[in-house]
Amino acid sequence: MTTQIDSIRVDARAELVRVTNLHELDAWHSAVLGRKGSLTNLLGTIGTLPRAERPAFGQAANDLKRELEAAYEAKLADLKAHALRDSLQEARVDVTLPGRPVAPGRLHLSTQTLRDVYRIFGLMGFQIYRAREVETDEYNFQLLNIPPHHPARDMQDTLYTTGAGVILRTHTSPGQIHAMREYYPQPIRVILPGVVYRNEQVTARSEFMFHQVEGIAVGKSITIADLKGVFIEFARLMYGADQRVRFRGSYFPFTEPSIEVDMNCMICGGAGCRVCKYTGWLEIAGAGMIHPVVLRNGGYDPRQFTGFAFGMGVERPAMLKYDIDDIRYFFSNDIRFLEQF
Ligand code: FA5
Repeated sequence: MTTQIDSIRVDARAELVRVTNLHELDAWHSAVLGRKGSLTNLLGTIGTLPRAERPAFGQAANDLKRELEAAYEAKLADLKAHALRDSLQEARVDVTLPGRPVAPGRLHLSTQTLRDVYRIFGLMGFQIYRAREVETDEYNFQLLNIPPHHPARDMQDTLYTTGAGVILRTHTSPGQIHAMREYYPQPIRVILPGVVYRNEQVTARSEFMFHQVEGIAVGKSITIADLKGVFIEFARLMYGADQRVRFRGSYFPFTEPSIEVDMNCMICGGAGCRVCKYTGWLEIAGAGMIHPVVLRNGGYDPRQFTGFAFGMGVERPAMLKYDIDDIRYFFSNDIRFLEQF
């Protein structure tokens, strides 16, 4: 019997040395120490021995069982350590590799320009007033002295919704009425930025959706000289002291007198291009003294109050500043254009 114990020990140990993975180790355990393993089988034969030999045999067999259990545990720990080392080696990170560049997002050029405009008008004491993008015909036209069928409606082709009298605003000017009705009877100095929509032909200088910044100042002694001063200061801070600003007489039903504000075309340097329609000047804003009818619609008595108003594009002034010769780049979502700014 002791020879059998010895031979199991020799065989089991030799086979354990050849085990190289957890799967083989499992098989080894079943074959030696499992329910039908060689050592378990041998222990099962103890009843067939003469009574006197049983204690010594039992002792030797149990010693071997403990010895092989310990060898199994040691091998298991060894295989696990190997497996961990291999996986760490495989997943090794080379910290000396150059990093992957991250692509940071940018503010859209219209947003950047709007922020420049806020900063400049903020320096001149203007606060920001937010008005709505979806408007009524009443606010967009009628309260601005443009009754139904007035020819001035042709200046701004309108996008109508299915709701009666509900439209996408064609300009930021309806915000004048909202602001006046909210501020009355205090003096006002606000700008009203936002998107406007027009059902018009898209060209290098005209979009069907673009931004405007409306501005109004209402008080007791405001004159057109204040309006001109504000634009001269705006041009100086936006483009530098060496650029030229020009005021031209014009017509808007909601201002009297009305003017348009032009900047010298910095894209062609005055030589003429399709953006400035070969004139060397680009119109950036419409403006004027608020018409008495509009002041009254806002709640202010035109015998006591005067005010100026302007409506300036955002993309056109940005085109001048950044030398962009086609407004369609702004909203065509070409990342190569957008990431330059
Ligand atoms: C108006 O929208 C008037 N509401 C401006 C105004 C306000 C006048 C207050 C008097 C008092 P106009 O349609 O000219 O006016 O537009 C004003 C500015 O918006 C233009 O000077 C130009 O800079 C810009 N703009 C007009 N149409 C477009 C367009 N299709 N694409 C891009 N910018 C435009």
